Amino acid sequence: MSHKRVAILLSGGGSNMVSLVDSMTGAHPARACLVLSNDAQAGGLQKAADRGVPTAVVDHRPYKGDRPAFEAELIKPLLEAEPDIICLAGFMRVLTGDFVSQFQGRMLNIHPSLLPKYKGLHTHARALEAGDAEHGCTVHEVTAALDDGPILGQARVSVEPGDMPETLAARVLTWEHKLYPAVLRRFASGDKTPVLLS
Ligand code: GRF
Repeated sequence: MSHKRVAILLSGGGSNMVSLVDSMTGAHPARACLVLSNDAQAGGLQKAADRGVPTAVVDHRPYKGDRPAFEAELIKPLLEAEPDIICLAGFMRVLTGDFVSQFQGRMLNIHPSLLPKYKGLHTHARALEAGDAEHGCTVHEVTAALDDGPILGQARVSVEPGDMPETLAARVLTWEHKLYPAVLRRFASGDKTPVLLS
């Protein structure tokens, strides 16, 4: 059986990428084929290299204000890697509908909220501000609309008394590392039944 090829896009430390790469072993139907970043300083790049995963960087800064020009460069190493599935994992650039449409139905993202609540940034602070008793993370198919698209999995955590954005983010992140690999394994085997953890 040939494995499904998974490309992972990241902008930072890559803890989600590490969880995904380390989960793709044994009978898992997929293997990582590329880790791609918009930032040469992203800590995740070394972690990927340490795991023997090919890496590439396309710096977004020379293309400031011209998203299509950045994406015209970004797509080159991506197509070269011939991925079957693309996982956005702490990738902090907004992708245009044109770019996403080339991978519609096989591009996933993890977002640190219980979508459809709190699309966009600062999700933990917003959940605390709202006084929510529960918070969490969501894996969804990527569509042209930001942080939208069919939900493939969610993990719920309770908000604890005294939580600050940092403590809540840390609790959610540990569940991201459980949820994303579980969703990827199910998605790679052709099953889109949502994974619900809590
Ligand atoms: C995390 O806050 C996560 O919620 C979001 O991206 C951030 C960085 O994650 N998906 P990572 O450690 O780079 O995977």
